[in-house]
Amino acid sequence: MTIKGSIGVFDSGYGGLTVLREFVKHLPQYDYLYLGDNARAPYGNRSFDTVHQYTLQCVRQLFDMGCPIVILACNTASAKALRTIQQKDLPLIDPAKRVLGVIRPTTEIVGKYSKTGHIGVFATAGTVASDSYVVEIKKFYPHMQVVQEACPMWVPLVENNEFDNPGADYYIKQHIQNLLHKDTQIDTIVLGCTHYPLLAPKIKSFLPEHITLLSQGELVSNSLKDYLHRHTEIKEKLTVNNTCRFYTTDDADTFNKNGSLFFGHEISATHLALQM
Ligand code: DGL
Repeated sequence: MTIKGSIGVFDSGYGGLTVLREFVKHLPQYDYLYLGDNARAPYGNRSFDTVHQYTLQCVRQLFDMGCPIVILACNTASAKALRTIQQKDLPLIDPAKRVLGVIRPTTEIVGKYSKTGHIGVFATAGTVASDSYVVEIKKFYPHMQVVQEACPMWVPLVENNEFDNPGADYYIKQHIQNLLHKDTQIDTIVLGCTHYPLLAPKIKSFLPEHITLLSQGELVSNSLKDYLHRHTEIKEKLTVNNTCRFYTTDDADTFNKNGSLFFGHEISATHLALQM
């Protein structure tokens, strides 16, 4: 008999909820288990080794809770930990399990939005330093120019619920100016961090109108839908009761209060102490 389970969704904190929100909208039949490592967020400025170690602990936790597949709904973890987990860790833990990220589903489609072939990426310092967006976009669209801008203040602004204050405008305008100064032909910008969709209305209001701003949630959920269609061996291991359960490594009440802004609905999370 096949043991079935939920789709695991992981982020360093709240950002992955902007992806989960789209999963629930586009693939409502499945059960989801969300884990936010809020106690150790943000991951954006941490080393490769630390991000790998933290992400692997969370992935193992989601596997232990029965998830056959885990989505790293975090660009920093996708950039710094995904490949090692897929190539080195999974074969040892359980080769039948799957871990997917959010960078590839974004980069394979981004070229369709650009007429000039000049793409901008806003991301954490870690994601920018990994060069994952540049390398991955070039794989699918070799002729495209990709320019990145690290925005180290944006995740803390969002995590601390300060993103709608006038002080946030300063940091948002500054990074927009920097990016557009590096390449004046950019017509498409990727929000390469799952926290950033909360800043999207502000970012849009400061951007020239001809620039398309892409959030990842919908792109990633289309890609997951396609993946499950192609991988029936994973699909048949998933339970379909239309539920979401939320776990945080930090305080559950705080998670419920802030997380509902990202998820768009009330959340009732449980505190979870990771097995180290
Ligand atoms: N949501 C994570 C991402 O997509 C934020 C990273 C962080 O914790 O700094 O990169």
